[in-house]
Amino acid sequence: MAEKLIDKEADFFFHTFHRLAVEIDRCDGVYLYSKDGKQYIDFFGGLAVNALGYNNPRINAAIEKQVRRYIHLSNYFLQDTQIELAEKIIKATGYKRIFFSNSGTEAVEGAIKLARKWGQKTGKTQLLNLTNSFHGRTMGALSMTDRPQYRKDYDPFLPNTDSVQFNNVDSLKAKISESTLGFILESIQGEGGINVVSREFADELSALQKKHGFLLIADEIQAGMGRTGKFFGFEHIGLQPDIVVIAKAVGGGLPLGAILGNEKVADVFGYGEHGTTFGGNPVACAAGCAVMDEIVENGLMKQAGAIGDYIKSKALELQKEFPSIIKEVRGRGCMLGIEIDKEGQPVVDELMNRGIMINCTNKTVLRMLPPYIMPQKLCDQLMNELRSIFKSMK
Ligand SMILES: Cc1ncc(COP(=O)(O)O)c(C=O)c1O
Repeated sequence: MAEKLIDKEADFFFHTFHRLAVEIDRCDGVYLYSKDGKQYIDFFGGLAVNALGYNNPRINAAIEKQVRRYIHLSNYFLQDTQIELAEKIIKATGYKRIFFSNSGTEAVEGAIKLARKWGQKTGKTQLLNLTNSFHGRTMGALSMTDRPQYRKDYDPFLPNTDSVQFNNVDSLKAKISESTLGFILESIQGEGGINVVSREFADELSALQKKHGFLLIADEIQAGMGRTGKFFGFEHIGLQPDIVVIAKAVGGGLPLGAILGNEKVADVFGYGEHGTTFGGNPVACAAGCAVMDEIVENGLMKQAGAIGDYIKSKALELQKEFPSIIKEVRGRGCMLGIEIDKEGQPVVDELMNRGIMINCTNKTVLRMLPPYIMPQKLCDQLMNELRSIFKSMK
């Protein structure tokens, strides 16, 4: 029988996750501490979940308080923490209605159902996405995901779906028609390599949305919740989505997601026509209320923008020093990518040896999703270590 955790994991679990070899014991602020006593600076941010770092006192207090009241009530009951969070999100975003889910992919599924039901009266059925997009792992969300490595061997997918070339206005014009029901996009593609939707593309998309009346669905699961310095990433490019999905940071580390809808879709779902057992869990919603207070009232959204700008400016300086290694620096706020001209994983591994966690996506993109509370001096430390690693690669 295996003894080490990593071997037990390989024995017991379906082989879906490549786990890191490090075993984490505890976390605090922007630091992770391993069982063997090493400290790591976290630019990984639980893949955009730990937006406020670890051990945020407001989140912890909210969770503790709610645990003592009740951990679960079914959605037959009115739940005050759910309603409080709904009010905070609706007030901050201007959307008309909300539905809480457990995860990002479940929110995307619900958004597809909302669009489908809305489309019944119009006869519109085509669902569009962008090349390189990622919207989740369940069958509907995967049908809207354009990552061949995640789709392979899972067909057949939802019918009448198609992909528009990323930031390609001609492709957009060619694919959209009167039969387009919905267009789903990430304002900044996370998994796809921190690709930022251009203003030109967004303007054309808005014009076509007005002309054809399809539903624009923004997947803000990674870019939302203040990460880019504005509540939603799409606010930077002037989009006005009809439906927005959020998850990751909203639950402060507990599983929570949501679908938001405007006037156009506000009355589409009738009673019993969509549902969930755990979605909107009261403890997760209590944590969510604390997250909203920190982001909106306590200024952490602004802080995310400012620290992100700082990291980006330092990464751009690094690019000037290593023009043959760094191809591009992309992103906004605390959602940044450095594309290099070689495999990114060895750089990520070396940074981990040096006590800094980042992530590599799309093979060559060093992705940074730091907590909004990341101090400047630790960003400098990351850049200094990257400088030293790139020097050794020259
Ligand atoms: C943009 C985007 N959409 C959807 C998802 C799926 O969310 P979840 O893993 O919570 O199902 C993710 C997760 O990484 C994501 O980044």
